[in-house]
Formats: sequence, structure tokens, C-alpha cells
Amino acid sequence: AFPIRNICCIGAGYVGGPTMAVIADRCPQIQVNVVDLNEARIAAWNDLDLSKLPVYEPGLDAVVDRARGRNLTFSTQVDAAIAAADMVFISVNTPTKTKGLGAGQASDLRWVEACARQVAQSAQGHTIVVEKSTLPVRTAEVVRSILEAAQRQAVDGELPISFSVLSNPEFLAEGTAIRDLESPDRVLIGGENPVAIQSLAEIYGHWVPVEKILLTNLWSSELSKLTANAFLAQRISSINSVAALCEHTGADVREVARAIGSDSRIGSKFLEAGPGFGGSCFQKDILNLVYLCRHFGLPDVADYWENVVALNTWQQHRISRLVVQKLFGTVTGKRLALLGFAFKADTNDTREAPAIRIAHDLLEEGAQLAIYDPKVDPQQIAFDLQLAASSPPDVQAGPTRAALSGEGTWWSGTSVADTVAGADAALILTEWHEFRQLDWVALAPLMRQPAWVFDARAVVDPEAVKSSGLMLWRVGDGAV
Ligand code: NAI
Repeated sequence: AFPIRNICCIGAGYVGGPTMAVIADRCPQIQVNVVDLNEARIAAWNDLDLSKLPVYEPGLDAVVDRARGRNLTFSTQVDAAIAAADMVFISVNTPTKTKGLGAGQASDLRWVEACARQVAQSAQGHTIVVEKSTLPVRTAEVVRSILEAAQRQAVDGELPISFSVLSNPEFLAEGTAIRDLESPDRVLIGGENPVAIQSLAEIYGHWVPVEKILLTNLWSSELSKLTANAFLAQRISSINSVAALCEHTGADVREVARAIGSDSRIGSKFLEAGPGFGGSCFQKDILNLVYLCRHFGLPDVADYWENVVALNTWQQHRISRLVVQKLFGTVTGKRLALLGFAFKADTNDTREAPAIRIAHDLLEEGAQLAIYDPKVDPQQIAFDLQLAASSPPDVQAGPTRAALSGEGTWWSGTSVADTVAGADAALILTEWHEFRQLDWVALAPLMRQPAWVFDARAVVDPEAVKSSGLMLWRVGDGAV
């Protein structure tokens, strides 16, 4: 294999930062330089106070602490880091295009293309370029043609310049990134040049068993990442569709999940019904797959996958519709408590969180929302809802002017008790551990009766809610 002594990673985000920290930690002989255009982000990665790292992941601080300053650096010197590198990872953002051709579905590849051009311009000698970002299948062709245009033979004592392109998608999940990186289910490497493939496999080989390092061609590797996310999201939509049917038939989705999950062909993981999937990747990657299918003349395949997203959107709206129906067909001027805003527990990430769509629907109906999440910054909620927070109303006083006019408003609750005070319903939208243990007997008297608990994550103990006199709706078996 081609010996790798120096790695550059372009993009110090959620993927680039933790991934490179683990490589540097496990390969002390390799110098790893992470670069980004975002100066504030780089400064945060360099902060001596490890609680200020720009990405929160359990265990990340310890890994960074061991490697930073030894063989791990964070800087904004992109060109210098490329020039020094034997291997360059591209780990930049690839969001859905918001305008132009493919808007709303295709990936916006402008940042990836910019990276390829910068590598073409600054690389020295032979450089292995690794696609770490999630990319549409066949993107390596684009990267390769940009790089090939910069290849040159040795001239006047200068080294020849050449490139190999590999695909190495990342499968880590937020909240468990370090565990996923340190003991991955598999590492996937796609490529054509066996020497380049071997060079990357040897890096992972420092801590990943060889049988877990899968080698494929470039296109299988690129497509596998989109497919993995599509299958994961499909399981959520499948179980949510069954949850809705359970609610009408006396079945309980948890019993159904256990029964089907015991079949080793199906497996028990990722079968929890809820308010729909969120996070920055599932929807974006499926829509990208849908776009590719249409592009390659496979409209039926596109429709099949598009329905996974459509069902997810339906599930989110279904929860808000159901709340309105149970509250006598109107929530205008009513106080509702939203417990949880992050897209899942143990993260402060709200990207595509189901709470956003559900809160939007309820605001549209004129509800007064008190929102509480143990980790999400209220400014992030205001940004996601595109609505500034109001100050919390006095629970003892009568309805506010906004409530009387039917205008939806929200404010940030500081505790569960303060959030449910005066509310007609509490909606549990994130499976935070603290919501599993709430004392409903103590909370119920704070609410306006008759009051409801809508448990979209099935985390409360139904008996505890019932003994408090509150009414309960739970995803996957309805009112219990
Ligand atoms: P991010 O948005 O957190 O980080 C990307 C970084 O790249 C930003 O800091 C940005 O400033 C930087 N950047 C963009 N263009 C640049 C350029 N030309 N030069 C230098 N820096 C540049 O994104 P994140 O979440 O790390 O995702 C990166 C890729 O990994 C995406 O393709 C995503 O789909 C994929 N992915 C994300 C996962 C996640 O859980 N967030 C999991 C697996 C894959």
C-alpha cells in the first residue's frame, strides 16, 4: 500500500471532527489536519475548555484531549493542509438543493465540487481523495474529472501530480458517534485503485477487524449509504403505519413489534413507533435517491421510496390533527405543553425534528404553546418555528390578548411543571429519560381539567397517568 503519513480532512462538522479525532487517536503515527472555512467552528475545536467543542457527543472530549496537539490539528489553512497531505477526506455538507434543477430533492454539490477544485489546485505528488460526505451515486466521476484535469507528469524537478478517488461513507449515528466509530458494524471502502483501497483499509485496520472492512466498487459504495438510510427510514415508516392501524383495532404496536422482531429475518431494532423520523440525513438522503431514480428513468422505484417520506410527513400531521380532535375540535387560545423538541433523545440537534411540524400545525390552529426541552436552546426553537418567543403568560390571569385573537404563540418552559401549568394537554415528542419518570399525580392539578397526555413516544407509564385522573393517548394503541 501507499504509505499514509499525513491526512487532511476538509470539513470540521459533525462527521469530520469526530471521525478524524478517532483516526488520530488510533493512529498516532499519522498527522491528521482538519480544516474548515468556518473560523468560529475551528476556534471552538481548539478551545482548551473541552465542553466548548462544537459537536456534543459522549466520549468525544476525551478522544480530542488525547490527540489534539499531538497528531491532530484544527485550522483554517485549507491549501497548506492539502499540500502536505497524502490523503484528503472530503467531509463537507451536502444538503438538499433549495432552488434550480432538482430543487427539494437533489443534493447540492457545490461544496463538494469546491473541495475537489481546491484539492486539484493545491495537492502535491500522489494524493488519495476520499469521499466521506454522503453523495449521490456517480459523484466520484465528477470529482475524478476535476482532479484528472490537474494531473501532470514530472516537470523540471517538480514531482508528478496524480490522484486516486475512493468512496468511504460514514455510518455513525448522532448520540453514539464515538462508539460507532470505535467499533463500527462495518467500514465501507469503494474504489478502483487497489493500492489506494489498501492504504485506507490499513488505516482502519489499526482498530477495526479486517472482516468488518468491506470493499466494493465506487458506485456500490456511494449507493450503499443512500440505501442504508432509506432502509432505516423505511422501517420507521413501516412501524408507524402499523401503529395507526393498531390504534383502530385494539392491537398494540409494541406487542406487534416484539412478535415480528423475534423473527431473525426481521430483527428487533428500529421498530419503535413514534411521531416520525427526524434528523439531518434520512429525508435528505431518500429524496436524493428519489431524484436519482427519476433521473435514471425509474419512476416506479422513485415513487416507492418517496412514499417513505410521505408517510413520515403524514404521521407528523396525524399527531397534531389528533390533538385538535381530542380537544373538542379546537385548540385556538388553548395552552398546550410540548415536552421535547430535539429529533431524538441525547442530542440538542433539531434538524427536521417532528416537533417542528407538529408545533407549526398547532400554532396555525391558534394554540398557545409552552415548549420544554432539556438540551435545546430556545433561540434554536425560535429559528425552527420562524417565530420569536413570547414571554410566559401569568397562569392565574385570564387569556392573553394573543390567545383571544386566535394568534398562535409560544414560550420557553424552564421545567416540566412550569410548562404544563394551565395547559389542556401535554404532548411528549422526544423520548428524553426524564419524561419516563414524571410524577403525573403531582403534575395533573397544575393543568386545566379535563386534561390530556399525548404520548407520541410511548414513554410514560399508563397506570401512573390514569391514576392522576388525566386522559391518555399513546402512539400505537390509542387511548388506553
Ligand atoms: P456539517 O454541516 O456539520 O459540516 C460540514 C462542514 O464543512 C462545515 O463546518 C462547513 O463550514 C465545511 N465546509 C463546507 N465547504 C467547505 C470548503 N469548501 N472548505 C472547507 N470547509 C468547508 O455537516 P456534517 O453533519 O458533518 O455532514 C457532512 C457530510 O456527512 C454530509 O454529506 C452528511 O450527509 C454526511 N453524514 C452526516 C451524518 C450526521 O449524523 N450528521 C452521518 C453520516 C453522514
